[in-house]
Order: sequence, then C-alpha cells, then structure tokens
Amino acid sequence: MNYRHAFHAGNFADLVKHAALLQLLDALQADKAPLRIIDTHAGSGLYDLRGPQAQRSGEAQAGVMRMMAATDRPGALDDLAQAVTAANDGADEPWLYPGSPWLIARALRPGDTYLACEMQPQEHARLAETVGGRPGVRTVCADGFAEAPLAVDAKVRHLILIDPPFEKADDYERIATVAGDVLARAPKTIFLIWLPLKDLETFDAFLRDLEDACEPAPCLVVEARMRPLGDPMKMNGCALVLIQAPAGLEPQLQAAADWVTSGEAGGQARVWPIG
Ligand SMILES: C[S@@+](CC[C@H](N)C(=O)[O-])C[C@H]1O[C@@H](n2cnc3c(N)ncnc32)[C@H](O)[C@@H]1O
Repeated sequence: MNYRHAFHAGNFADLVKHAALLQLLDALQADKAPLRIIDTHAGSGLYDLRGPQAQRSGEAQAGVMRMMAATDRPGALDDLAQAVTAANDGADEPWLYPGSPWLIARALRPGDTYLACEMQPQEHARLAETVGGRPGVRTVCADGFAEAPLAVDAKVRHLILIDPPFEKADDYERIATVAGDVLARAPKTIFLIWLPLKDLETFDAFLRDLEDACEPAPCLVVEARMRPLGDPMKMNGCALVLIQAPAGLEPQLQAAADWVTSGEAGGQARVWPIG
C-alpha cells in the first residue's frame, strides 16, 4: 500500500467528494432518526497543505486554494468552505485540509455514530489522533471492505462512504461486491462511492457491475470531467455514485461539480440517474 492521500488532499476531486458528502449528511440529518456512518477508506483525517507531500504535488492550488479565494463560489460549496475555515481556526488562507473523518465527526449529532476504517498503520495512528475519542466515533486499523458488511444492522439507517485509492486492480470489483452484500443485509443503506475518471470503458463496466449488484436500488452518478478522457493513464476527472440518496440533491451536486470543473479548459460536469 503506497498510496498517501496527503499528496492529493484538497484537490479538485476532494472538493467534489466532500461537497457531496456534506450535502448528503445535511439531507439525511433532516430526519431525526440516528444515522450510522461507515467510512471504508478513511485516511488520516486532516492534512497539512504546507507539508512536503502537498507541496510536491501542488494539487491543492487548483482545489481548496482556488475555492477559498473565489468570489464566484456557488452556495453548493458553502458548507465545505465553512468547514475548511473551521479546521483552520478561521484563518484566511488554509494550511490544513479536513478529510472525510474530520467532516463526518464534526457533523455527528448525539445518537449518530461513525466507524472509520483505515488499513495503513501510520495513517490509522494519525486518524485516531485526529478524531478518535470523540463521542460516537470509532476508528479501526482494518480492511474497510471486510468491515462494512459486518458492521451494518438492518434496524439502523446507514451511510457508507467508499473511497479506495484504486491501487489494486480489484478495487472496482470489491466495491460492487460490498455494496451488494450490505444491501442484502440492510436494504435501506445509502452509499457515496468515489471513483477516478480515466477512460470510459472502465467507468461503464463498473457502473454495469454496480447496477447488477445493487438492483433495484436507484443510483445517481456525478461525473466531473476536467478534460476529455483522451489519455487513460491520467486521472482526467472523477465521479461519484450515490445509491439511494434522498431526492432533490441533483441541483446542488451539479452546481458544485460545475464550479469545480469550470477552472479547466474542456471541463464539464453531469449528474444523471441509472437504474
Ligand atoms: C483516498 S484515501 C481516503 C480519503 C478519505 N476518504 C477522505 O475523503 O478524506 C484512501 C485511504 O484508504 C486506505 N486504504 C487502502 N486500502 C484500504 C482498505 N482495504 N481498507 C481500509 N483502508 C484502506 C489508504 O491507506 C488511504 O489512506
């Protein structure tokens, strides 16, 4: 496992993912019933944008730095921008970027719970330092694909975030398998799945497998293309699949993805249902 999210924290893809995560949490928490959140690939929770890894990649410049300096930012990114400001104690220019564990732990209400799985021991140690010990939060140094189906309970509402590094060829297959297994145990579970967009063949094949595994649960796809999908060796954009998301999120998801992709020539975003 070589992947370190510190190189990529706060990039364009994190903005698309984390804006959607906050929109989804907000919509789900409109219902007073407790929510159980499982993050299969949590990362370390908080990232130093001035550290050597972030500085080497420079990816945050076109992501969180652009967002925080923007005067044309849509309302769909406001919650994320406010979270970034809070993670930085109100400073004008951020030096920390909050990952999914930080964002989720901050959003928990009394009675909500959060299980954060991270398999890389050093990342897990940082994760435990960042969010461990907060009310309702549990972190485990374990394989999130294996943990998620064991942790669900059909009597409780769950949101599962699946955000693998895609270092391994079977990550796509494991996502579809886990989603199918979880839905068989807890049919009302809601998912937010993140994917890189490299080439259309891989993406389409994954969507077909996911649809088969999750049928009849409705899926909503957010596609954020930064450039045409010409070179399959590059991350040309990113995508999200929301399974059983509450109705009405499409305009917010589209607005966030439109703004993120607008920074690049040839960028375009699309939100569309499958199933
Ligand atoms: C893309 S990062 C997660 C970012 C995080 N979800 C966020 O939004 O802030 C993927 C993480 O998954 C971890 N990882 C890789 N394989 C894993 C597995 N099978 N189970 C749990 N964690 C894994 C990596 O060490 C890495 O920290």
